[in-house]
Amino acid sequence: MQAIVLVGGEGTRLRPLTYSVPKPMVPLLDRPFMEHVLLRLRDAGINEVVLPACYLPEAIQRHFGDGERMGMRLHYVIEEAPLGTAGALRNVERFITGPFFVFNGDVLTSLDLGAMLEFHRRSGGIGTLHLTPVEDPTAFGCVEREPDGRITRFAEKPKPHEVTTNSINAGTYLLEREVLDRIPTGRNVSIERETFPQLISGDRPLYAYATEDYWIDIGKPENYLKANLDILRGTMPLRTVGPSAEAAVKHPSFVGAHSTVDRRAEVGPGVVLGRGCRVAARAHIYESVLWDGVVVGEGASIEGAVLAGDVHVGANARVERGAVVGHGERIPAGSVVPAGARVPTPLPA
Ligand code: GDD
Ligand code: MG
Repeated sequence: MQAIVLVGGEGTRLRPLTYSVPKPMVPLLDRPFMEHVLLRLRDAGINEVVLPACYLPEAIQRHFGDGERMGMRLHYVIEEAPLGTAGALRNVERFITGPFFVFNGDVLTSLDLGAMLEFHRRSGGIGTLHLTPVEDPTAFGCVEREPDGRITRFAEKPKPHEVTTNSINAGTYLLEREVLDRIPTGRNVSIERETFPQLISGDRPLYAYATEDYWIDIGKPENYLKANLDILRGTMPLRTVGPSAEAAVKHPSFVGAHSTVDRRAEVGPGVVLGRGCRVAARAHIYESVLWDGVVVGEGASIEGAVLAGDVHVGANARVERGAVVGHGERIPAGSVVPAGARVPTPLPA
């Protein structure tokens, strides 16, 4: 079985985190997000993966190479300008030999891929879309279907008054190869706005496969933080992550290699420290994710925040809930990063 994982987006909603790394490379506990995704594919027997990339592709290539280390075959296809979620698929058609999976590169889910494949084979449609229920569908693709699963309408990012169901496109598709022939070449094409609506009005049906598995799109900081916390709490099972060893830390938390926590600091529960972090005495960290090399000064407090690599938080500084701090920023001693603030403030997309 082959898969295409879409990894070309700019990750604008994750800025400033995605100024230094592309979205697939943001860490989730002990390794880049994408590595968890690829391991999940490998476990399901998918060994060959095509990666249409565009924004900061070298970071992805440098880490995964040809995939041999993971026992997989990875092919990168770099877009000079973004081709869109369908254009990117058409652009890699030379690698695809039969039915194939497609994954949005920012989705974390416990979906059983084997069961979805089974469903697709039985239904005989031109494609199958994984659906998940959400409270607010306006940030997603809204999908209407018949009782037998046949999809009748796909509305991407509907206005509140256009919402007719809370079932949304969960970003995992199983498509017949002939779908690629229907995608125009040489321009940006959105699978959500163009290809799916077109397939729905075609002769061979498109089916929905709705499940209640764990599901989250990590493309917004609050969701990215939640994904980390859900893994710590075991809501989302991940076999790649073991328990944390650091004694001064309250569970569930995760402490990366070579990180040191002063025994007079209060860290956790719900804290992820990357590799080589240093937390000084009387510092207080709660429900937060700190990437590699973050230094937290004496008496500093961090709550509900995400700090990218090599950030320095000065003594007695306070980083409040929902704050996001970009790579290498210095938070001066005694200062406050207010709730929801982004440092530096991202440029408009
Ligand atoms: N190669 C390539 N080229 N990849 C792209 C491009 C492109 O031009 N544009 C987006 N992508 C990748 C992104 O990197 C991401 O992995 C995936 O396509 C989806 O893009 P997002 O920008 O994250 O889309 P979204 O989250 O707003 O909406 C999509 O996902 C929702 C589920 O999380 C849609 O598919 C919705 O219908 C869906 O509900
Ligand atoms: Mg997304």
